[in-house]
Amino acid sequence: MAPQIDKLPKIITELPGPKAREVIKSDSRYVSPSYTRSYPLVAASGRGAIVEDVDGNHFLDFNAGIAVCSTGHCHPDVVRAIQKQAESLIHMSGTDFYYRHMPELAQKLEALMPDGKAWRCFFGNSGTEAIEAAMKLARYHTGRYQFIAFQYAFHGRTMGSLSLTSSKPVQRKGFGPLVPGVTHAHYANCYRCPLNLSYGSCGVACASYIEDTLFKTTVQPDEVAAIIVESVQGEGGYIVPPPEFLPALEKIARKHGILLIADEVQCGMGRTGKMFAFEHFDFHPDIIAIAKGVASGMPLGVTMARSEIMDWQPGAHASTFGGNPVCLAAAIETVRLLDEKYVANSAKVGEFMKAGLRRLMDRHPVIGDVRGLGLMLGVEIVKDRTTKERATEMRDAIINECFRRGVLVLGAGPSTIRISPPLIVDEEQAQFAVDTFSAAISAVAG
Ligand SMILES: Cc1ncc(COP(=O)(O)O)c(C=O)c1O
Repeated sequence: MAPQIDKLPKIITELPGPKAREVIKSDSRYVSPSYTRSYPLVAASGRGAIVEDVDGNHFLDFNAGIAVCSTGHCHPDVVRAIQKQAESLIHMSGTDFYYRHMPELAQKLEALMPDGKAWRCFFGNSGTEAIEAAMKLARYHTGRYQFIAFQYAFHGRTMGSLSLTSSKPVQRKGFGPLVPGVTHAHYANCYRCPLNLSYGSCGVACASYIEDTLFKTTVQPDEVAAIIVESVQGEGGYIVPPPEFLPALEKIARKHGILLIADEVQCGMGRTGKMFAFEHFDFHPDIIAIAKGVASGMPLGVTMARSEIMDWQPGAHASTFGGNPVCLAAAIETVRLLDEKYVANSAKVGEFMKAGLRRLMDRHPVIGDVRGLGLMLGVEIVKDRTTKERATEMRDAIINECFRRGVLVLGAGPSTIRISPPLIVDEEQAQFAVDTFSAAISAVAG
């Protein structure tokens, strides 16, 4: 494990403390008001799973910069790789010149693919760029223009990816018209079935809806370039589809010559206890979008596609900064660390933590559901377990109470708390987070 300044939190001032208040005041004057800050954390430094704020308070980070700091904050091996690279070459632009890091990372990522086939990588700077590239490539390769995406999906906020995003109205309001050709279908959320059916007897009707309804009413299947799906839904509420859902999409896609794009931006890079979340399912995407955890916090987006699909011509797509040597050096080290130990740790500690959270259901009736894979865990907060009425305000209050007690978590979807720590956390830290979570629920809900 990475050396850590501390393993558990320590709160020494009121929150926010005096220095934090100054930064927040200045931020509210000068910085874009479009950011959503759930609570007043002003970060100063981080090491392992601990973040120190500007007033010297230590927090246990069970959010990891929104599922980004996969190897923990400032993992010494990653820092060393960044420093070493920054001393020799920061930028050259892979759009026009060669450097070793591009093929090196691409080769390592191909080696992680379970199918043993040939893959190629396009490099951008973020998740949204990885999705934009996936959309453009799917259109280019198929000569078709339409996409099927899913309700509650989050794929990013640039115009193309925003057209796929269907997570919260505020993310789309005021920005239309968006990119045409996107139709949203039902994601398999068995806790809140969009078709009011029950898993086991539903025949995955959410997937067949695409063929039975969409293809018979609004969408010509031979105009669909790709179905784009989060292997495990992230911002929508940490929703794990049942085993049949993704294979059912694959069957539809193969029948109609439609490509499959797996958005692994949040659920990929070990988060679910396997390197890629789609590996939990009998699912074989053609294009994969990767970002967040791939470079431990350095900005990098990767669009991977099977070689015969990434067939665009020189000049068709590129980005000046995409895949700069420093970010790629961080990613190469991150992939090594994940592969060697932290993906396995995510599976192990994730199981431990899920069991701990499930036990809390006996004590706290406001917990409607505990779900997830590896260290991608969601806890849904409800007013009533039978009606499943969402308790959004209570969810937000619990998140705030966790912060006051030194544990950082965030919301996902209308009523879920997402737990996405660095993949380095141990069982002691997971237990501390579970106990703090329980105390926070008691303080808020009684
Ligand atoms: C599944 C998924 N796709 C795409 C994105 C967009 O990534 P970025 O914010 O790096 O543009 C996100 C971000 O949260 C995401 O969760």
